[in-house]
Amino acid sequence: MSKTIIAPSILSANFAQMGSEIRRMEEAGADWIHCDVMDGIFVPNITFGPKMIKDIRKTTMLTLDVHLMITEPIRYIPQFAEAGADFITIQVESTDKVEETLKEIKNRGCKCGAVISPDTPVETLRKYLHMCDLALVMSVHPGFGGQKFIESSVDKIIELKKLRDELNPNCIIEIDGGITEDNVCLVKQAGAEAIVAGSAIFGSADPAKTVAKMKL
Ligand code: DX5
Ligand code: ZN
Repeated sequence: MSKTIIAPSILSANFAQMGSEIRRMEEAGADWIHCDVMDGIFVPNITFGPKMIKDIRKTTMLTLDVHLMITEPIRYIPQFAEAGADFITIQVESTDKVEETLKEIKNRGCKCGAVISPDTPVETLRKYLHMCDLALVMSVHPGFGGQKFIESSVDKIIELKKLRDELNPNCIIEIDGGITEDNVCLVKQAGAEAIVAGSAIFGSADPAKTVAKMKL
């Protein structure tokens, strides 16, 4: 089995020191940098846009995993692709044009992914999986870092793994929200291959140790 991908979410970083925060994650052994884009409409929080991705792109070679929590994300795909995103993932609840948006992401030269919120059934992903490089299960309600892990997400990962193995074995299974050193094992056993963690890594006294534990 290939190694688990660890993707610290910069939502928990100090935004006023983003460069050194990214460096800190590189030194801790992070594989990807997870960037949460929020518009204050799809979710009740606002973060940053393409300019942040563009500036981060200049500071790191790590894969940039851009998670869009914005309404009608198709409007902004060119800007995020241009900024240097590697993966762009979209919430299936944020638009009626999921397929079209995923295609647009691919056409712009990025890898694409579909994301489901806690109340969205895994079955929703069936019709998109064949075109996805990644499928993401939200294990908290999108919007904020530091929330409690929703336990039923484990069963959703198990169900998604079955579907993924059947429809598109190359699609990476990712989980995001409330992941800690204590529950990471559970989600990995269920089938999660890429682990997003914000507060658990940025808030750790020893991020390298936390990342290493999560990779085990
Ligand atoms: C929530 C974001 C997550 C969040 C995870 O909307 O998508 O990426 O930053 O933070 P933790 O790991 O603290 O739950
Ligand atoms: Zn996220």
